[in-house]
Amino acid sequence: MSEKYNYNTPVSEILMMPDGITVNKDYVDIILNENISVYCENKKDQIFRLMSFKTIYEKNNTFWLQEKNWKYFFTKDTLEKLKEKNVVKPSAEEPKEQKEPEEPKKAESPAVPETPVVRGFGTEYESIAAMSNTEKVKYLHNIKSKMDTLISISKKSKDRSSSTKAMVETTRDVVMINHSALENVFDLGDAEAKRATQSFVITTQEMVKANTQLISQNIFDNVLMNRLVEKSNGIIVQHMTRVYLSGISFLAYYNNFVSNRISIIDMRKSLNAKYRQYYQNLLPHISTDDIVLERVFHNGMIPIPPDLFVKWAVGFLIHDIGKAAAIEYHEGEESYNRNIVMNHVKLGYNSVMNKTNYPKEAALITGYHHEYYGNPEGYGYFRDSLERFKKTNPQAKQDYCMTFDLEPIMNYQALAYFPAKVLELVDVYDSITDPNRGYRKALTSNEALALMREEFITKKLKIDPILFELFTGFINEKKASSAKD
Ligand SMILES: [Fe+2]
Ligand SMILES: [Fe+2]
Repeated sequence: MSEKYNYNTPVSEILMMPDGITVNKDYVDIILNENISVYCENKKDQIFRLMSFKTIYEKNNTFWLQEKNWKYFFTKDTLEKLKEKNVVKPSAEEPKEQKEPEEPKKAESPAVPETPVVRGFGTEYESIAAMSNTEKVKYLHNIKSKMDTLISISKKSKDRSSSTKAMVETTRDVVMINHSALENVFDLGDAEAKRATQSFVITTQEMVKANTQLISQNIFDNVLMNRLVEKSNGIIVQHMTRVYLSGISFLAYYNNFVSNRISIIDMRKSLNAKYRQYYQNLLPHISTDDIVLERVFHNGMIPIPPDLFVKWAVGFLIHDIGKAAAIEYHEGEESYNRNIVMNHVKLGYNSVMNKTNYPKEAALITGYHHEYYGNPEGYGYFRDSLERFKKTNPQAKQDYCMTFDLEPIMNYQALAYFPAKVLELVDVYDSITDPNRGYRKALTSNEALALMREEFITKKLKIDPILFELFTGFINEKKASSAKD
């Protein structure tokens, strides 16, 4: 076994000072920076797992000293790597002063190659997936208390970096825990699956509530968020983390915007001057004079109440959870398969709806986040059911473009579900500005906004023009505030 895994050095031997009490912080930092993995051996069944050191360390920063069920090792390769960086623990005879001045230089050397980005969920996912359900729930509880502490500190301090860092890290882990929890219940019956996921549902919702509170306090730093998200090595997890944080940030911006009467007056002007024709095409049976803001938004552009805000935020967090069901494809190197990609919305909807007690709102967001107002390029989960409805109800018409409420979308009175339409925008923007999509170059924010306007509004109407105008304001405001920093 040891030959196969090529491990040989207990972590405690590397990471403790000769006194056996103090942790060698320098080595820990290098291991964290390099995102080095550690071999874990389960004492009971002798099963080995390769896990990210960082993920276990974040749960317990001296985990290797509490080897109750596990033993931890570094491989020979890891030790070689550390040696190369001149950071292998000196033997007792080695004079300490020779090493110290060199260390920071080595650690900061530009020659150190960047950690390659991993497709799919990434290696960090393995360590989360390896946890038992009880451990996962406990971990979620820790995340929640971290958020609570942050909320109380953030009221007194204006330090955005620590709150952004905490939000990014916790979101990333919550995304992975939810994926893994759902992945484990796909084969269970619905009732059993709901029972098995119930504690995740409750704790995740509490975490989301805390996050939305922090974002509403506007202490979220977008530039820092992007930098931190890129440290995670799984593309899907990076994407979901960014989309969730940007999504709720945009909802907060929307709420702010619509609470100002002047903004609404300006939006009415925009509709009249620039967008009327688009909406007329969407609602051909409505007379031109009646194409007003209240037709675009059922009940008008109103602020989102806090309880709905949290339900939608949960939907943003788990929106691509359907990818967990086809994990081999999304994690693998296979070429693009539209059917599998399209299927993630259906799978996501069905698993959230039937296998968990997440709110219906979150299930709809998961199912309807690639609809593009019925354009054939959308994935069409809603479009197909609308078609079926129209066959049996040929007289029924959709009188609104978007609705905030469940009923009008479930009864086909509207063409789209507002939060899914918001997510569509954020999702498209994220995918074309994502630096890690191998098949195309990442666009700058200006290029991305220009492309969205051209391809997703002017040429074919896919995203909502008024929401897009708002989104442009949001991105520009974020840019301006980061330039000030
Ligand atoms: Fe998606
Ligand atoms: Fe997505």
